[in-house]
Amino acid sequence: MPSRTEVAKHNSKNSCWVVISGIVYDVTKLIDQHPGGANAILALAGKDATEDFDLFHSSDTIKSRPKQVIEIGPIAAGGGSSQPPPSPVASFIAAETSDSRETSLKMSAKLPLVACRSLQDFENTALQLLPERSRVYFHTGSETRSAFDNNRADWARLTFRPRVLRDSSKLSMREQIMGVHSTLPIFIAPTASAQLGNPDGELCFTRAAARMGIPQGLSTYASKSPKEVAECFQNDPERRGGALFYQLYVPKTKGNAKRMLAEAKSLGYKALLLTVDNPVLGKRDENDQYKELAALGPDDEKRPYATPPLPGEEPDVPRAIHDPTLSWDDLPWIRKAWGNGPLILKGIQCVEDAVEALRHGVDGIYISNHGGRQLDYAPSAVEVLLEIRQNAPQVFEKLDVYVDGGIMRGTDVVKAICLGAKAVGIGRGFLYALCSHGTDGVVRAIEIMSEEIQTTMRLLGVTDLSQLNLSFLNFSRFSQAKDIRLFSSKL
Ligand code: LAC
Repeated sequence: MPSRTEVAKHNSKNSCWVVISGIVYDVTKLIDQHPGGANAILALAGKDATEDFDLFHSSDTIKSRPKQVIEIGPIAAGGGSSQPPPSPVASFIAAETSDSRETSLKMSAKLPLVACRSLQDFENTALQLLPERSRVYFHTGSETRSAFDNNRADWARLTFRPRVLRDSSKLSMREQIMGVHSTLPIFIAPTASAQLGNPDGELCFTRAAARMGIPQGLSTYASKSPKEVAECFQNDPERRGGALFYQLYVPKTKGNAKRMLAEAKSLGYKALLLTVDNPVLGKRDENDQYKELAALGPDDEKRPYATPPLPGEEPDVPRAIHDPTLSWDDLPWIRKAWGNGPLILKGIQCVEDAVEALRHGVDGIYISNHGGRQLDYAPSAVEVLLEIRQNAPQVFEKLDVYVDGGIMRGTDVVKAICLGAKAVGIGRGFLYALCSHGTDGVVRAIEIMSEEIQTTMRLLGVTDLSQLNLSFLNFSRFSQAKDIRLFSSKL
């Protein structure tokens, strides 16, 4: 049995071992083939990689591992060195079951489900309950968190212009989202690593989406595999509707992308959300600092520093865990690999790219700044919707436009639809409900959104989503939108 000291010697490109859940693997041959890039492995060479592995892989990845990964065997216990950090899932379960004072305090922070009145209640509860590793990963934004904060702040800057004395008793909130029927104009936005928040991970989303009849987007970095999720969806005894969408990060090896797309298609995923805002991972200081502190070793202060390239040197691409060469020219092969079915570009953030997307014949655009986790000072969802509305309103006629970012209320959803969005994705809002109350929490969160959307519609004097338009919004807090009425066809 290799000891921890022995494992630590295999810490380079020439010989690279990692420990995952107590088993040592030789991953030297995987380094250049790894879909997430060589650096993701090299950063963990000679170390316990359980935490990072769980974060980015589904539970059956290790069982179906590629032949380049060679199992060495269980790691020897003890050996005078520190124990490996418990996996985040193990920490979560420990926090839930231990009877320590801290845990009982945490449990008292768990608001009973019936008392949860808004998505904010789930967020407050989850942020108190979650183990630190998970809390930091979900909460982190990039750098100053401006993109995260502005998302929320800008929804709040839009006010309504309600109409009165209209019969609003009969009402429909139904919408077609990426080609499938939905009971509400919302879907579960793809988010990574839900197992950090609940041992059932994304399956909580799947059950809730199936029961409430809305679509779920599954992330490439989900902690449950596309197959596990598809089976859960098909077999849920309380399913009343819903659908599954697949979110793809294009890996560095094209063949892997094609394989992933073919698998998702064969499992019945209905739409492809192609994320295009991620040539490199955003600089997420809160999360990065936590990880550095958790992994701090005695020699870490002596690590070599990254030097900017000199003339003639090929610059490295730090933080590139996906294919950083991805460009508009890649869309044809991605379209071909996906085949028929909606192809939606996720991460559009300005009018020029919305028009470019239209030219490239995609089925829809998905405005998103990645929950404020990619570019710091990226525009808010409202700013991008306004920019397209003012400069290329034809986009809304010719393409389906979806949006996410900072949606916490039914009023935010209705505002997005007034601006031209067909439907709205909710990421953290539902993720925190999963963290605090599991499947029941997500069901309740969707129920709350349904109540808020229909109440807002009735108080605006509309009975169908198709009646919502710019005339229901007041833009006086947005100086850049003073001429917005010009584009309202319904006034
Ligand atoms: C995120 C990526 C992995 O953490 O989607 O935002």
